[in-house]
Amino acid sequence: MGRVFVAGSINMDVVATADRHPKVGETVAGRQVLYFPGGKGANQAVAASRLGARTTLIGRLGKDSFGAELKVFLRSQGIDLGYLQETTAAHTGTAIITVAEADNTIVVIPGANALVDADDVSVVPLLDGDVAVSQFEIPLPAIAAFFQRARAAGAATLLNPAPAQSMPGELLALVDILVLNETELGFLAGTELSDGDEAARIIEVTRRLQARPDQTICVTLGRRGVLALAGREEISVPGRAVQAVDTTGAGDCFVGALAARLADGTALRDALTFANAAASISVQRMGAGPSMPTAKEVAAVL
Ligand code: RIB
Ligand code: NA
Repeated sequence: MGRVFVAGSINMDVVATADRHPKVGETVAGRQVLYFPGGKGANQAVAASRLGARTTLIGRLGKDSFGAELKVFLRSQGIDLGYLQETTAAHTGTAIITVAEADNTIVVIPGANALVDADDVSVVPLLDGDVAVSQFEIPLPAIAAFFQRARAAGAATLLNPAPAQSMPGELLALVDILVLNETELGFLAGTELSDGDEAARIIEVTRRLQARPDQTICVTLGRRGVLALAGREEISVPGRAVQAVDTTGAGDCFVGALAARLADGTALRDALTFANAAASISVQRMGAGPSMPTAKEVAAVL
């Protein structure tokens, strides 16, 4: 059984809940302020670990109270933190989030996450059958170094290019499995995509983005499910109708769940169905990290 290695961001999410989002220049009264462990990398690692994968998180925290709290939380999730570094050079990554009507806005201040570098990933003991996961909240050269190592070791590479930013073609070519939403797909493919786009159009754009003939691209469509292109094969997973309270980290849940199932040898279609169900559970709970489901909870809805 392969393991999951996540190189990525770790944030404290400072969440304000309100009945509606303020407009620019406006002040609204909030309901609560909540502190949740977050950061895309940490969220993905929590999901993978809760779903049964042996999981290692590579990243950086500041030597401050948020960092200390996050470490306690991540350790309690059974995640290997042996490659986590603490720095005095920057504060722990922080995300300022507003949640209203189940939708969120997020401002991320990277702090220590911006200091993750190629050396941080150079000692990670990746093996054949492992899955190496990353996202765009750590510097791209660190991701490239991580994926080069992974591929040399025979591990699969899974990239979640979120939040969207342009990437060099050489990085995309190192990716075995790309997981992104419609907005990110449109951004990377240099085209407009909107919520109502038909499957045929999404697949056409996906095909254009494919950097290698054997690359898998999974497009998460929220309540409309998932479309994937695996080499030449098209896979469609239907959406699940649930009552969302907080979608923060839903994409991370999907990524962590997919990595966990691929690491244990589950076939892609079943792994996508599993990850889609896991994400549908996470949106029904507040917070990012703490909203990730267990394998038992996912099995109960499948
Ligand atoms: O994907 C959700 C995450 O994005 C939040 O936990 C926040 O920390 C930001 O990094
Ligand atoms: Na959630």
